Amino acid sequence: MYSELIQDIKKKLGSELAVLAHHYQKDSIVEHADLVGDSLQLAASIPQLKARFIVFCGVDFMAETAAVLASRHQLIFSPDPEATCVMADMAPHSLVRTILEKVSLSGKVIPLSYVNSSVGVKAICGEYGGSVCTSSNAPGMLKWALSQGDRVLFLPDKNLGRNTANLSGINPREIHILDIRNNGNNIQAGDLADKKLLLWPGVCAVHFRLKPEQVMGVRRDNPGAFIVVHPESHPGVVAIADEAGSTSRIISFTKEAPTGSTVFIGTEDNLVLRLKKEFPDKNIIPLGAGYCSNMAKITPQLLARCLGSMIPEKAVQVDPKLAPHARKAVENMLKVSLQ
Ligand code: 13P
Ligand code: SF4
Repeated sequence: MYSELIQDIKKKLGSELAVLAHHYQKDSIVEHADLVGDSLQLAASIPQLKARFIVFCGVDFMAETAAVLASRHQLIFSPDPEATCVMADMAPHSLVRTILEKVSLSGKVIPLSYVNSSVGVKAICGEYGGSVCTSSNAPGMLKWALSQGDRVLFLPDKNLGRNTANLSGINPREIHILDIRNNGNNIQAGDLADKKLLLWPGVCAVHFRLKPEQVMGVRRDNPGAFIVVHPESHPGVVAIADEAGSTSRIISFTKEAPTGSTVFIGTEDNLVLRLKKEFPDKNIIPLGAGYCSNMAKITPQLLARCLGSMIPEKAVQVDPKLAPHARKAVENMLKVSLQ
């Protein structure tokens, strides 16, 4: 019933409407999407889209990033603005500013935020000459950020930070996980002089569940099987896996695996189950990360309701004071990573 309603509205609006969905959305949403992608692909598509109405099926930071990049005639909608990202919520912008000011006493610190962050945090990155990144361009963006100052504050995901540092050949002794308790008062700027990378202690509530011991057990019990994980996983998990990459890389790795092979996938269940259906010639098994309860908030009923009420008052709003700085941070990423 909702499916027909969605299709009717899509037909009526034609090219005026674009429905975007992240790979972690359920099949009943993905089937209505004009574009399905990872965080970078979806963000990069916004400046190219001609549609007046853009409906973003994902979590709030994705719709906000789209709103930051949208042109004046475009309106961005979220079927459920309550779908947030637990990791992004671990870095409130006022605390990020306080900590950044504190660590900046040690020299020029460039903030580099994962796109899984609020507009307020992205604006701080733009304001302080930093940028944002996604899991698919984190190594390139970290290299860029390191070239802009004395050290980098990477946030909010300490696992993506550590995995990216490992790929970039940064010595573990040059990495420091910040103590953000007590409003940052435990941080001593003098202790940071020999550090290159300062990490915010956030994690993804889904990938956090994958434990190195468990993945080691899978490796031991399944000789010959492939293991692919998302880089939001613990570095101990990434070290055991054959590959770690963005949702798009996980898809291409699975596609490239030989017919008949067993592939264990460590990422959100909706994507793993879709790949299992898409590649029946392979034995695809979830490593056990689980569902993202916020991604799952988007349902066909909410999508239909959203499509039926696309008035400017319901569009995603970005604080006009924050928007220019946040746009600068996101545009820096698009410029550096897509050139
Ligand atoms: P990517 O699609 O960029 O890999 O992001 C994964 C994610 O956790 C989005 O919330
Ligand atoms: Fe946030 Fe993790 Fe859910 Fe992605 S999967 S939206 S990072 S909590």
